[in-house]
Amino acid sequence: MTKSKISKLTISTDIEVYNSEKDLDKKDAVLLTEAKNILKNAYAPYSNFQVGAAALLDNGKTVTGNNQENAAYPSGLCAERVAVFYAGAQYPGVAINTIAISVKAKNVVIKEPLSPCGGCRQVIAEYENKYGKNIRIIMSGEKGKIYIAKSIESLLPLMFSKKYL
Ligand code: THU
Repeated sequence: MTKSKISKLTISTDIEVYNSEKDLDKKDAVLLTEAKNILKNAYAPYSNFQVGAAALLDNGKTVTGNNQENAAYPSGLCAERVAVFYAGAQYPGVAINTIAISVKAKNVVIKEPLSPCGGCRQVIAEYENKYGKNIRIIMSGEKGKIYIAKSIESLLPLMFSKKYL
């Protein structure tokens, strides 16, 4: 029998699970409320899926964003990226500490925490790497459990980053 040339790399990830908002630390609960409030201003006439994101910066400021859609679909942008890019534009030297994400859909109740899309993960990763500091990510649905990742690494293992360039 020939020895196999294939070995396996198993990747595990760590997410904290909270049963409800009441179990969150005060600061996290406040940030999540900001995300929930800003989703009301989402421009989502095509998907009817409103997302809000609130980013707490290391200078204590909070910047918020929501999804902005477009008739030419790919021209729109997710809530997380609106918030992260706004932070980058307004406070270029300031690291992001935590991002909270909230969601509301028109026709269904979202019972699972909303996990950022691949594009947003890559953007959050860029900002972690830019400042050399982890970004915590608080994910929530309209009801049910809340997830907290301590770093984008938990959501984007084997990420592409500037280290390859
Ligand atoms: N969306 C977000 O804003 N964030 C996510 O993490 C997932 C999806 C938006 C994009 C689009 O406007 C709508 O939700 C449906 O995909």
